[in-house]
Amino acid sequence: MLKLQSDLKDKTETLVIPVCEDKDIHDDPALVSVIEKAKTVRNFKGEKDQEVIFYNEPKLNAERVIVMGLGKAEKADTEVLRACAGNSVKKCIRKEPAEIIIALPSEKKFGKPMADMLEAMMEGAFLANHLFDKYKTEKKQTPLKQIAFLVPSDAKKKFAKLGSRISVICEGTILAREWVCIPSGEKTPDQLAGLISEHAGKEKLDITVFDEKELKEKGCGAILAVGAGSDSPPRMVVLEYKAKNAKKTIAFVGKGITFDSGGINMKPGGSSRNMKNDMAGAAAVAAALITVARLKPKVNVIGIAPLVENMPSGKSYRPGDILKTFDGKTVEVGNTDAEGRLILIDALSYAVKTYKPDAVIDLATLTGACLTALGDKIAGLFSPDDSLAEAIMASGQKTFERCWRLPLPEDYKESLKSEIADKSNVADLNGGGAVTAALFLSEFVGETRWAHLDIAGPAFFNKGSAYCGAGGTGFGVRLLCDVLEKL
Ligand code: BES
Ligand code: MN
Ligand code: ZN
Repeated sequence: MLKLQSDLKDKTETLVIPVCEDKDIHDDPALVSVIEKAKTVRNFKGEKDQEVIFYNEPKLNAERVIVMGLGKAEKADTEVLRACAGNSVKKCIRKEPAEIIIALPSEKKFGKPMADMLEAMMEGAFLANHLFDKYKTEKKQTPLKQIAFLVPSDAKKKFAKLGSRISVICEGTILAREWVCIPSGEKTPDQLAGLISEHAGKEKLDITVFDEKELKEKGCGAILAVGAGSDSPPRMVVLEYKAKNAKKTIAFVGKGITFDSGGINMKPGGSSRNMKNDMAGAAAVAAALITVARLKPKVNVIGIAPLVENMPSGKSYRPGDILKTFDGKTVEVGNTDAEGRLILIDALSYAVKTYKPDAVIDLATLTGACLTALGDKIAGLFSPDDSLAEAIMASGQKTFERCWRLPLPEDYKESLKSEIADKSNVADLNGGGAVTAALFLSEFVGETRWAHLDIAGPAFFNKGSAYCGAGGTGFGVRLLCDVLEKL
């Protein structure tokens, strides 16, 4: 669907030309003359999200030309390009399948490498072209059938393979988005394990799904306790990607609460409204593994997704219960709504013990506190390891899945003690909910290099944005694929 083109010989339906308000960023004289014409239109300066549309421009061989503002050149980073491509695609989607061609700015004039510009614009365009209309009776829109990019002929040759790489990464992101959007009643732990296995089965991945009996044999007491109240018993999915001559093994672990009611400490009022999204970490990890299997990096990657429904019933685990975890430590339940950290410690210590990975990264919609601290666009990043944290920060900057590092203060650990068990799952501390949740996890990874991403904010949006519809965002898939290159 993504294509590179170096001329406008074939008639195009819609041509998009991004422009800056304070700088010329195109070389092609035919484009430049249309941009000049656009700038004679009253009030059009090329400010961000401003646009002018021309019809049947003869020199450009296009039915429709949209001149799209990027704003000031200095502020027009790769994310502005990504969003511009996304918005362009959304403007062209209609009932009938349509096509678009987007003109890339000149490398020299815009001052950005073609690779970076193309990558971002391809991502924005591909992701924006995904529609989640499975539950709409009437399909009012059809995704574009072709998205082309107008580039110089040398770039067309040089980046001939980029489109398929970006498609694979974006398909992975979309897979995670769709899983998150599925209602909880259709993705019980067993059903979700089935969906993941179905997709993973198409790639070269080893797939193992542990059922409740096997989880019991393994001693995953925390996963079993959280799942006890549900009629749908827990599962744990393990996906393994093995590379030839790999020097390293990286493990990803994702929180997979298929619905978080809070359990016996039930969430009040409407606050469980979005809790079908509480498996976004697991979705990102499983989708990342499927993507990794297609990209084939030279590193072994393990993905672990504990899948559990947190429900209140006569069989539920209770506040005051003491659990025996996989690691062997006991945990007193202070609050059944702090369930994510419980299923994660079993999965994390299982990952560490079984695979002895060089690094482990977990993703979890873990705390409302993190959402409060950083808003719904930025994930909290926790790691005692500076180089691992920096690699994740850098990947997040590149893919615009933004992370912000928060501390793991040693003295706060004390707040997680229990009078009668080894640990409590809730902290006795004023505030700092995201920090103490991360500290709780840190007790179960031993000396292994570890990082935790609290994605409670950016895992899902209530409203759509430039290249993501409302619902699951697939946050983390692109970041995890990128960070493998940096570890
Ligand atoms: N899944 C929630 C966290 C969450 C909240 C994610 C809002 C996305 C949006 C998590 O299991 C939870 O309930 N956390 C509690 C912990 C508390 C009981 C210590 C919280 O954040 O309030
Ligand atoms: Mn909860
Ligand atoms: Zn939860």
